[in-house]
Amino acid sequence: MKYFSVRGTRDILNEEALKLRYLEKLGREVFSSYGHREIVIPTFERTELFTRSIGEVSDIVEKEMYTFQDKKSRSLSLRPEGTAGVVRAYIERNLYRENASLRLYYLGPMFRYERPQAGRYREFRQIGAELFGSDNTRSDVEIINVFVDFFGKVGLKEKNFKLYINNVGCESCRKKYKGIFTESMQKNLSNLCVDCQRRFSKNPFRVLDCKNKQCRNYIENVPLISECLCQDCKKKTEEIKEYLQDLDIKYKEDPYLVRGLDYYTGIVFEIKCGKLGAQDAIAAGGRYDNLVKDMGGHSVPAVGCALGLERLLEVVNSEKIDLPIKKELDVYFACLGERALARGVDLAGGLRCNKVSCQVDYNEKSLKAQLKEANRLQAKFTVIIGDEELQKGVVILRDMEKEKQKEVKPGDLMGAIRGDDKSTSQGRVEQRELGNS
Ligand code: HAM
Repeated sequence: MKYFSVRGTRDILNEEALKLRYLEKLGREVFSSYGHREIVIPTFERTELFTRSIGEVSDIVEKEMYTFQDKKSRSLSLRPEGTAGVVRAYIERNLYRENASLRLYYLGPMFRYERPQAGRYREFRQIGAELFGSDNTRSDVEIINVFVDFFGKVGLKEKNFKLYINNVGCESCRKKYKGIFTESMQKNLSNLCVDCQRRFSKNPFRVLDCKNKQCRNYIENVPLISECLCQDCKKKTEEIKEYLQDLDIKYKEDPYLVRGLDYYTGIVFEIKCGKLGAQDAIAAGGRYDNLVKDMGGHSVPAVGCALGLERLLEVVNSEKIDLPIKKELDVYFACLGERALARGVDLAGGLRCNKVSCQVDYNEKSLKAQLKEANRLQAKFTVIIGDEELQKGVVILRDMEKEKQKEVKPGDLMGAIRGDDKSTSQGRVEQRELGNS
């Protein structure tokens, strides 16, 4: 029986894995530079947490959750996103006491049973950031800015992505809009797709998000939420636009941007990348001032955003951005014979204590084959040890890129790897025959 990875999941290895780790490391640096502290949340939670926060009639809850019963018949779900878990932790751990405006970030895998396609996976990775305790529009803009800043540091240019914003209104705007929207949409209800008809009674605004072509024709003829915003929401939108301009962040207003999660109130946004095709959002988020209270906490305003690492990686690759990923292997040990192997194992141990990564070959292949392997592994150096070297009390250090090698005393190996010339025993370049094993 041959096993294959589950549809919508994938193995990430070699250079892709290095790039992913690099992006995560850079993300940690950028988010902490804005005062965000890391929170590591569980991969699964009680299903109800997601149902209540994301919304019962959202696509995620209706169709996309990996839900299962544990041995005590409790319904649990793999997290489809991070905000719900962070809010649960914020309330459970009384984090509001720690800091008046607490900034947290998280990273890790999320799970959604979506139809897999380019840029859409059933297991994918996010970096998310949440800011609790401030309803100042400067915090909305700071959240947008930290993501834009991160993308810039990754190497994306302004032309590579575009920010779209909308204001989905506070509770009173939404109440007013609901009446207008429902009345206008009701006339055409029978022409909408089955999903829209079903959602309409529970959460009519979800219709705005429908991608079905026929539905879009009707949706585009109904009044917009922007026409129903209260003075305060209008003022906030204007402030956000002004602060974005101050930071020189280009944006486009999209009146149909409503987002697929129910917890948003006020500003919502998406950062899209034209080159990605249908799944073009690399990051998305918004303000959710009622969620902490709705989930049983105090009334704490909040705003946040999350980016998809796989999609970001795709942009990095398609834009040919050279990430400074470190070659994984510093030194490959090519040892010829049992005694040489023992010496190699010993030397490698010493180097590892100095944070030099080493791999020793135990398969007793020919020197040529071992050097080929070192090249394949992109090792920076190969240390060659054979009978001759053992007799002379030296090793050969081969710079794989320069294709030059020299004899080095074992005690000087560390210095020679660091590029300290004094460490070279004779500074002599050895032309060892590669064909001999
Ligand atoms: P979201 O829009 O559902 O928002 O996801 C955020 C990002 O995750 C998307 O823009 C996309 O890059 C990536 N993503 C989502 N689904 C997939 C998938 N199936 N495959 C690959 N990448 C995907 C949230 O998750 C909110 N929690 C964001 C937020 C944080 N709002 C407030 N705070």
